[in-house]
Amino acid sequence: MNITAISTQDLAKKKAGYKAAEYIKDGMTIGLGTGSTVAYMMTRLKERITDEGLSVFGVTTSIQTTMRAVNLGIPLIGLEQVEKIDLTVDGADQIDPELRLIKGRGAAHVRERIIADASARLIIVADPSKICPHLTGPIPIEIIPFSLSHVICRLMELDGTVTVREGVKKDGPVISDNGNIVLDFFPDDIPDPSGMETTINMIPGVVSCGIFTEFTDKTTVIIGEQDGPRIIGS
Ligand code: 5RP
Repeated sequence: MNITAISTQDLAKKKAGYKAAEYIKDGMTIGLGTGSTVAYMMTRLKERITDEGLSVFGVTTSIQTTMRAVNLGIPLIGLEQVEKIDLTVDGADQIDPELRLIKGRGAAHVRERIIADASARLIIVADPSKICPHLTGPIPIEIIPFSLSHVICRLMELDGTVTVREGVKKDGPVISDNGNIVLDFFPDDIPDPSGMETTINMIPGVVSCGIFTEFTDKTTVIIGEQDGPRIIGS
């Protein structure tokens, strides 16, 4: 017998991920986000492909998600081969009441933003700890390596502290899937998330920060609660 302990938080992620898999319909092209909550959705999607003969293609947002999809046997397609993405399921690190997000704990936010932008609909899956009254950070920021000192100087003008994200089992900075460096910016405050997003993204050398404010109109959030999934948004 295989008895695997699952924490309350993981159970919440599983509930959210499994619920999101119900939104996927035959023939859809699906954006596959990155992280542990999306992983549950992918597990359930694979079950539906096997049990119901669902025919779908996934477009991935990271090397990790590509590896997961390949291991599960979820068919993949390149972004350049699709006209549109019907639905993307992704995770988040913070979600405010207006469904604005902070993403990028896994340093995948650059590709996640591209896939979210290309999608007709965005479903965010999360456990309850991700819900917050207002976004506080840290804000992940992917930058091209040449710009490191310049971007740090510009961020210091915005009030807060900044760190270069360090690798685990690798000395020195994290190198993203795109070959870039990732900073974590701890602002004193984020009174205007959209303004902060634009200000950071305008700094020369910044590829993208992890504040996502532009997708709220097409976003549905699924929170895995103890007594079932809670749906926020349309
Ligand atoms: C990766 C992300 C993830 O989607 C986000 O960190 C949520 O991950 P998890 O579901 O593991 O909590 O933005 O860059």
